[in-house]
Amino acid sequence: MKLWGGRFKREADAEFARFNSSFAFDRRLIEADIEGSLAHAEALAAAGILSEEEARRIAWGLNEIRRQARADKSYLDSREAEDVHSFVEAQLIAAIGEPGYKLHTGRSRNDQVATDLRFFLRSEIDATDELIRDVQRALIELAEANPDCVIPGYTHLQRAQPILFAHYVLAYFEMLKRDRERFTQVRARVNQLPLGAGALAGTGFPLDRESIARRLGFEGVCENSVDAVSDRDFVVEFIGAAAIAMMHLSRLAEDLIVYSTAEFGFIELSDAVSTGSSLMPQKKNPDSLELIRGKSGRVFGHHAAMLATMKGLPLAYNKDMQEDKEALFDTIDTLAGSLKVMATVLRNVKVDCEKTRASASSGYSNATDLADYLVRKGMEFRKAHELVGQLVMHAIEHGKALEEIDLEKYATFSELFADDLYDSIKLESSLSSKQAAGGTSPESVRQAMSKARSEIDRG
Ligand code: ARG
Repeated sequence: MKLWGGRFKREADAEFARFNSSFAFDRRLIEADIEGSLAHAEALAAAGILSEEEARRIAWGLNEIRRQARADKSYLDSREAEDVHSFVEAQLIAAIGEPGYKLHTGRSRNDQVATDLRFFLRSEIDATDELIRDVQRALIELAEANPDCVIPGYTHLQRAQPILFAHYVLAYFEMLKRDRERFTQVRARVNQLPLGAGALAGTGFPLDRESIARRLGFEGVCENSVDAVSDRDFVVEFIGAAAIAMMHLSRLAEDLIVYSTAEFGFIELSDAVSTGSSLMPQKKNPDSLELIRGKSGRVFGHHAAMLATMKGLPLAYNKDMQEDKEALFDTIDTLAGSLKVMATVLRNVKVDCEKTRASASSGYSNATDLADYLVRKGMEFRKAHELVGQLVMHAIEHGKALEEIDLEKYATFSELFADDLYDSIKLESSLSSKQAAGGTSPESVRQAMSKARSEIDRG
């Protein structure tokens, strides 16, 4: 059944009809569509447009469609439809006859589809939040399992300063915390009701939009009917937040890929999240992480696609906007899949703390601590930096570490050097000196870990 045959003399071209149909993918909104229709029917009854009996039969029919859709996957293939909204309406009329023809009173597919999408997205955001939280939990578990492990911190992927492994891991915990905040903020803007906006001008029937909103769990109603049916900023925003989350996952993936190489040898991924090579028998590849890194590109693409789709559209509704669904659905699925696999990977990481410690102890990562030592003895930092730079050059030329240079030699660089310099450039001193808030001192990191743990246990 078509919803708009009256003013047409000819059937649509078959190729165009297929091109026009969104039912292959928007059937995913069927539960949301039925919920929305149940609420709309109640509002029509409250306004005296449907009799109690008609409203009751419509509710029965809609519930029946939902039951069948849940019970039988092939039910949704039982009829061709332009979209999920036409499908449900047609099934309703087939099931209950006359009152079914009244359901669409005072409603357009324009306010209907916006309502469905927002209703659907709201619970997807809740599911996303749970999945991010589980990755955060896996991060804390990894930090807690390796509380004393030291790694080299990098800038430019060159050894910079030693940090606790737990401190490094908690950096990602913070990023994911902001991702969750972003989704919560997007959710508040998603959770406004378009229904009652009609095609664009508002509905000509006295529907109580506030009570429809309450019935469907929306926080409020969209204030302007033209805006309600014409914007998809909430889709762009959701994909934007997803893109940022994927960017974070991708960086974590990249780190772990690099750390798992033989050249680094910092971590080992278990067989459960690795694959082999069809040609080279010795290979064990981090495909799980590479796919997460790779899939981030898809989500960035959906974000760009949605902005491009929306940018030139005159108000109000345009069919271009049907393109929102595949971008949104694929974003939801890609992000969910990546989050689940990331949590699993993190639970399958073994850290070689001896290896990371050896690496953190070499490469002159304690040069900054030596400069800080001179500053504490009274030298200006810029001068200390220059002097330690010369010391490092001297050490490199003699194939020595800073701790292997004897005090007499140090004295030729500055009379401020004394025997206590050797303590100050030890790995442990380097770490414990970073006591200011947010730094890598063992005490600060211990506190950060327990704060993170209680945040995650709280919810
Ligand atoms: N399938 C359409 C979409 O996803 C539903 C709205 C159609 N409205 C219209 N006036 N053609 O956007």
